[in-house]
Amino acid sequence: MDDSRETFGPRAFVTGFPVKHSRSPLIHGYWLKTLGLPGSYRAHEVAPADFPAFIASLKSGEAGFVGGNVTIPHKEMAFKLADDPDALSEELGASNTLWMEGGRLKATNTDGGGFTANLDGRHPGWDKAHSAVVLGAGGASRAIIQALRDRGIKEIHLVNRTVGRAQELADRFGSSVKAHSMAALAEVMHGAGLFVNTTSLGMDGEDAPEIDFSPLLSDAVVTDIVYVPLKTPFLVQAERQGFAVVDGLGMLLHQAVPGFEKWFGHRPKVDDKLRALIIEDM
Ligand code: ATR
Repeated sequence: MDDSRETFGPRAFVTGFPVKHSRSPLIHGYWLKTLGLPGSYRAHEVAPADFPAFIASLKSGEAGFVGGNVTIPHKEMAFKLADDPDALSEELGASNTLWMEGGRLKATNTDGGGFTANLDGRHPGWDKAHSAVVLGAGGASRAIIQALRDRGIKEIHLVNRTVGRAQELADRFGSSVKAHSMAALAEVMHGAGLFVNTTSLGMDGEDAPEIDFSPLLSDAVVTDIVYVPLKTPFLVQAERQGFAVVDGLGMLLHQAVPGFEKWFGHRPKVDDKLRALIIEDM
């Protein structure tokens, strides 16, 4: 990127611990370059003990950033330290996108919106499903369940290795979300139109259990938030069994859109060239 554009424009960051594997600098760098905008976006590693001081320097302007993304393990603390977290951050207890506005630190959470935008782009009509199965009960699962409910999915079956954790999460949402153990998987898949893996199972070439997807509706969609590899073991199995599949890379790309727009003033597009750039880097 040409130096003057980086020197003079708004500066944004992604912070996490560790953060060096983040692909966000590649995504925002691509948009800055293709849109010809001045500005920079850099990875900025901050240890948990130093995070409150980092946020203080962001608010005072000393850090020189207009805002940034926050990833593991800082999302909950980012929510707590923001001046004005939005309603979605409040519901999730976590924020991944921060920006300064009128001298105040604003915060939102774009994970769930990124998830649904990816499905909208790659399998329009997915939200006609009455019932969905969500595997895993961590932070990503919480954001996705909230987004599925916001999109009108009536019945959500939350399946988790530790059923108590699934129950705790389901209790936050009321009767439309039901918690189950892994043993109940086949039963709750019956008649579901969407299957989502939110666990790390199958990541980076690790094995994942065999799943019989046949109880799903024949036009069901199977998706995974893991995107390395792009075709995860769950997606390979589902495709082999004749189901439509959507990989998780688009969620990463779409969750980045609202932040970029806040910091740099233009709404960027998720296009095939960007997808190819990230795949090349994997
Ligand atoms: P995140 O916030 O990214 O969603 P997390 O909070 O660590 O991550 O949650 C990870 C999820 O993957 C959990 O649902 C976890 O199951 P437990 O609650 O039983 O720990 C699930 N998970 C991780 N490894 C798993 C494995 N080997 N088998 C089954 N589930 C697994």
